[in-house]
Amino acid sequence: MDAEKELIIDVKNLTKVYGEKTVVDNIDLQVQKGDIYGFLGPNGSGKTTSIRMVCGLLPITKGEGTCLGYDIGTHSGAIKQQVGYMTQKFTLYPDLTVRENLKIFARLHSLKNIKEAVERTMDNLQIGKARANQKAYELSGGWKQRLALGVATIHDPKLLLLDEPTAGVDPKARREFWDYISGLSSRGITTLVSTHYMDEAERCNKLSYIAYGKLLSSGTQKDIISGCNIKTYNIVGKGVYKLIAELQEHPDVEQISMFGSSAHLSIKKDVDISPIASQYKEFEWQEIDTSLEDAFIYLMSSQKDNFA
Ligand SMILES: Nc1ncnc2c1ncn2[C@@H]1O[C@H](COP(=O)(O)OP(=O)(O)OP(=O)(O)O)[C@@H](O)[C@H]1O
Ligand SMILES: [Mg+2]
Repeated sequence: MDAEKELIIDVKNLTKVYGEKTVVDNIDLQVQKGDIYGFLGPNGSGKTTSIRMVCGLLPITKGEGTCLGYDIGTHSGAIKQQVGYMTQKFTLYPDLTVRENLKIFARLHSLKNIKEAVERTMDNLQIGKARANQKAYELSGGWKQRLALGVATIHDPKLLLLDEPTAGVDPKARREFWDYISGLSSRGITTLVSTHYMDEAERCNKLSYIAYGKLLSSGTQKDIISGCNIKTYNIVGKGVYKLIAELQEHPDVEQISMFGSSAHLSIKKDVDISPIASQYKEFEWQEIDTSLEDAFIYLMSSQKDNFA
């Protein structure tokens, strides 16, 4: 890790237990200043719970560390003030205009110059005059999300926590959203973002993959892919579905799944593919680079047996 860079989030053994169920299980997380840090994992894996614990919105069951230099166990109030949090199902005031929504949140943060903060936020997010007077309920999904980002950034936070911010938003609006986050990153603003989209994961400079509350892998894309120690083949041919069904339980097959109209199959790096490929000569086999998605599917399937 770059020793020069400030750690904005530095937590160890982050744990949340509800009743008998451990939903976040000893997660370590280090996020550096300016990082766009992606949090990935299937539904219910503990992403939202972890994000809420890091920013002081949810008490931790166990663990220690700091967020923006403040102790997460004892200084949640100070953390909350400096964090911009866009919740998974963000709420806007539907009957208020865009400008009024921004004003309300500026007031909630007790900002000194509310007008300046609202104008600056609208400028940054290219919210024009006509749009500013539209009611929130009239906005398209993409514009609602842009306004929610405005609300989350109105107090100029150093850290943004974005929980699936682009779910249900069209590709163009998603691209603009990510360009904006990249701009913030180049100005030293740090983002921790949960997502289910692979193209978004690829725009993060660091990633963590969690499943069943456990951290399965973290690092750069390259670290995560090479850490899996697998090689991947693209298989093309008629009846590829049948091949998938037949090879699903093969002891040497780490994972196999559809990718568009072909299949991706991964095996351990030191295993020879020839015995399997020779059984299916009618298909075209080609070794390809293991993608981030292949790596995530592998990580997930390698855990299934432990939790079934
Ligand atoms: N207040 C609560 N009481 C009991 N269980 C909870 C509570 N909040 C969350 N959970 C459980 O904790 C687990 C993790 O939930 P969490 O919302 O953090 O997952 P997630 O990774 O954000 O999922 P998604 O991708 O669907 O948003 C789930 O099994 C969920 O049911
Ligand atoms: Mg969630």
